[in-house]
Amino acid sequence: MIFTTENLPSRDIYRMMVSLIAPRPIAWVSTRDRGGRSNLAPYSFFNGVGSNPPCLMFAPANRSDGMKKDTLLNIEQSNEFVVNLVSHSQSESMNQTAAEYPQDVSEFEACGVESTPSVHIDVPRVSGAVASFECEAMQILHLGEGPGGANLVIGRILAIHIQDELVDDQGFPLAEQLDLIGRLGGSSYVRVSDRFDLKRPKL
Ligand SMILES: Cc1cc2nc3c(=O)[nH]c(=O)nc-3n(C[C@H](O)[C@H](O)[C@H](O)COP(=O)(O)O)c2cc1C
Repeated sequence: MIFTTENLPSRDIYRMMVSLIAPRPIAWVSTRDRGGRSNLAPYSFFNGVGSNPPCLMFAPANRSDGMKKDTLLNIEQSNEFVVNLVSHSQSESMNQTAAEYPQDVSEFEACGVESTPSVHIDVPRVSGAVASFECEAMQILHLGEGPGGANLVIGRILAIHIQDELVDDQGFPLAEQLDLIGRLGGSSYVRVSDRFDLKRPKL
């Protein structure tokens, strides 16, 4: 079966994409507005981009009323954000922060998520996150207009925090202990607990 996107409503395309491009890592993005109020929301159109320069991307689409989401508005103002990673024990609170709280409500407070200051930027991070990336925005691309219109935020990673007990004696993450979750289609998630290794072939 082939679906030509030109003939499909964007809602159906979205539904196909989130089922097919899966599992997706989740960026639990913290930002701060001009008045100093912090914001926290999950984004799973998210990935690393490269290590030189160290950068990552995530994509906050416009809301159903066509307005930009608070996360994007805040980054446009401050140029700074933190991507916190989500482990299984934080699934419920991460999901709560996805509710459309009014702009003057901090999800940190509304959802009882503890925050701690960052080192390089003026945006708090999630205290209990297994890892967090302090970022400054490198580029923001507006790819679409109106409801669901896509925006792409590319951030330079200034610092990486990892919980002390999750780092091996060489300073690298103990990947099997992070217990990260990923997003699938609909309201489904996956837990990273079924791993296997493949050695890269040598020619
Ligand atoms: C696991 C998860 C992943 C999400 N991924 C995205 C995403 O990639 N892009 C997006 O625009 N919204 C995404 N959302 C919805 C936003 O989190 C939601 O619209 C939120 O209210 C935005 O908050 P803000 O306005 O404070 O930025 C996701 C929600 C969940 C629960």
